[in-house]
Amino acid sequence: MNLQEVQSAAIACIKTVATFIQEEAGKISNTDVETKSLNSLVTYVDKTAETLLVNGLSAIMPASVFLTEENTIEQGSGNYRWIIDPLDGTTNFIHQVPVYAISVALEKDGVIVIGIVYELNRNELFTAIKGGGAFLNNNMIQVKNNYLLANALIATGFPYYDFQQLDNYIRTLRFLMENTRGIRRLGSAAVDLCYTACGRFDAFFEYSLSPWDVAAGGLILQEAGGVVKDFSGGDNWLFGKEIAGGNANLLNDILNIINNSHS
Ligand code: IPD
Ligand code: CA
Ligand code: CA
Repeated sequence: MNLQEVQSAAIACIKTVATFIQEEAGKISNTDVETKSLNSLVTYVDKTAETLLVNGLSAIMPASVFLTEENTIEQGSGNYRWIIDPLDGTTNFIHQVPVYAISVALEKDGVIVIGIVYELNRNELFTAIKGGGAFLNNNMIQVKNNYLLANALIATGFPYYDFQQLDNYIRTLRFLMENTRGIRRLGSAAVDLCYTACGRFDAFFEYSLSPWDVAAGGLILQEAGGVVKDFSGGDNWLFGKEIAGGNANLLNDILNIINNSHS
């Protein structure tokens, strides 16, 4: 199977899992919500979706291993590794806010080669294969070619459990509030990255993220002509827990603002 065939098979699997998730939407009661750690929520929907994805993707590539948010399978290392967030935007899902996605990436020898983010409520499928461009519902997408911070719409994720950098973060927000068109917090990092990839947002930044939040969206953003960095301007955005991505014209500005906000 080549990567295109693997991607097509993975999309079919993801669409089946999406049907399951949407069947459960609106049915979640308080007793279904488990707290993994402060404000980090999970339900049977996240776990079942993950199991369905693991089973489906294992059938496509029997020798592959997994890195998944909900730990429903042994986490492995190997040549081909799927990095999965079965439901990115769990808090939105629980509260019936219609922004959440399935995020699936495939790594080959440590390099992300496939990214798929499926936003369930707008039926938007974002895809990329390394070196092959990025697509929204099969139409090629590009980051916005905007040079002016004053015209930029910026996405972020507000800290909700790790408050160590909160003062710096708020200084960054203040500067961006005063110098851009505005800031959005959608509640799904995967969607934030894809909205940046297709030019709806100019840039996205967040700290305390995990690899499954950013693996697929990061590749999609890069393949759409964007740049993805950690806050130091390095390339450790997958495991480094800090990510800033956007069009190349503005990303340096965003990184400078983040770093100048550090006391
Ligand atoms: C969360 C979402 C959210 C981000 C959090 C993530 P989850 O993922 O991506 O936008 O701010 O940091 O943990 O828990 O809904 O899969
Ligand atoms: Ca997530
Ligand atoms: Ca999740």
